[in-house]
Amino acid sequence: MTASREIHLVRRPEGMPVPEDFALVETQVAELGEGEVLVRNLLMSVDPYMRPRLSGAQPLNAAMEGGALGRIEKSRNPAFKEGSLVTSRQGFRELFVSDGKGLTPLSPDPALPLSVYMHVLGMTGFTAYGGLLHIGQLKDGEQVFVSTAAGAVGSIAAQIAKIKGCYVVGSTGSDDKVRWLTEEAGLDVALNYKNEPIRKALKAAAPKGIDVYFDNVGGDHLDAALSVMNTLGRIAVCGMISGYNEAGSRTPVYNLSNIIYGRINVRGFVGADFPHLYEPFRAEMAEWLKAGRIKYQETIYQGIDQAPAAMIGLLKGANTGKMLVALAD
Ligand SMILES: NC(=O)c1ccc[n+]([C@@H]2O[C@H](COP(=O)([O-])OP(=O)(O)OC[C@H]3O[C@@H](n4cnc5c(N)ncnc54)[C@H](OP(=O)(O)O)[C@@H]3O)[C@@H](O)[C@H]2O)c1
Repeated sequence: MTASREIHLVRRPEGMPVPEDFALVETQVAELGEGEVLVRNLLMSVDPYMRPRLSGAQPLNAAMEGGALGRIEKSRNPAFKEGSLVTSRQGFRELFVSDGKGLTPLSPDPALPLSVYMHVLGMTGFTAYGGLLHIGQLKDGEQVFVSTAAGAVGSIAAQIAKIKGCYVVGSTGSDDKVRWLTEEAGLDVALNYKNEPIRKALKAAAPKGIDVYFDNVGGDHLDAALSVMNTLGRIAVCGMISGYNEAGSRTPVYNLSNIIYGRINVRGFVGADFPHLYEPFRAEMAEWLKAGRIKYQETIYQGIDQAPAAMIGLLKGANTGKMLVALAD
């Protein structure tokens, strides 16, 4: 038996989660049976979608789930060599035994840092790519607004729009993030929604209106976007983080009738909606990364015991770029 540690949800959060909602639990990992492998997680992902799960779908007193990148430490399965890398949904734990189902082998490009497979070249990058180009039907040179623009999804969506020659406005929650967005990521305007009402700020920042709004926030940001959308505009509804802690008490959206007047297409989506784009995404994004056309940031907490702090930090805006937890070298 080998000792491991994992994070359990022990109480359903009310509003913003607190450390007492989680527990660090020591476990023993069973010996491997025929066909099984032992995986040591190196990096795990912390994502906003996990917050609504804490209010329902996530069982109490069981290890939480989430994206992870690990190394095969021991193998009794010929399909997985010891030392090789895999991705899985088995985050929030240091070690786990698998029969191979749910493991995806990863052959990283040696010219790129391994961690990019957890964001720019992973789920959040793909969400940005498909959400903007396929759901948002972005055309070169359009006027674009992206919310949570300094986050994992938003920062990539905003930069893809810049690559496509668009005028890009981003919103974010700190002056440091505003600086990164304009000085490093190349956005035309970045707004700190905590400094002034987003509706007023967006109106001033988008004198030609907005053709595509990539919505990560909902509530007041969606309302602001609806007030400046151009005729035949598209709203790609990716997330609504402003309501994740307070289900049922979201900020009202007043400008819904503009959907009619402006013939606006509002469409929600998840990454599974455009699997045919996965291969072109991987190839194009790797090229953009290597050419320095896509920049990224990561906020990495150290150790499994810090995973709850990373979850709470994500919801409070403590991350710039992707929120990760490093579990081993
Ligand atoms: N549809 C899909 O398939 C899919 C996939 C991935 C993610 N998403 C969604 O995309 C959005 C971004 O996800 P991500 O992984 O890239 O996370 P992220 O943006 O890297 O991190 C979350 C950020 O949200 C911002 N935030 C928190 N509360 C807010 C509020 N009340 N109003 C405005 N901003 C707030 C914070 O940044 P600030 O400092 O800017 O406030 C925080 O850093 C989320 O809504 C998520 O649910 C959807």
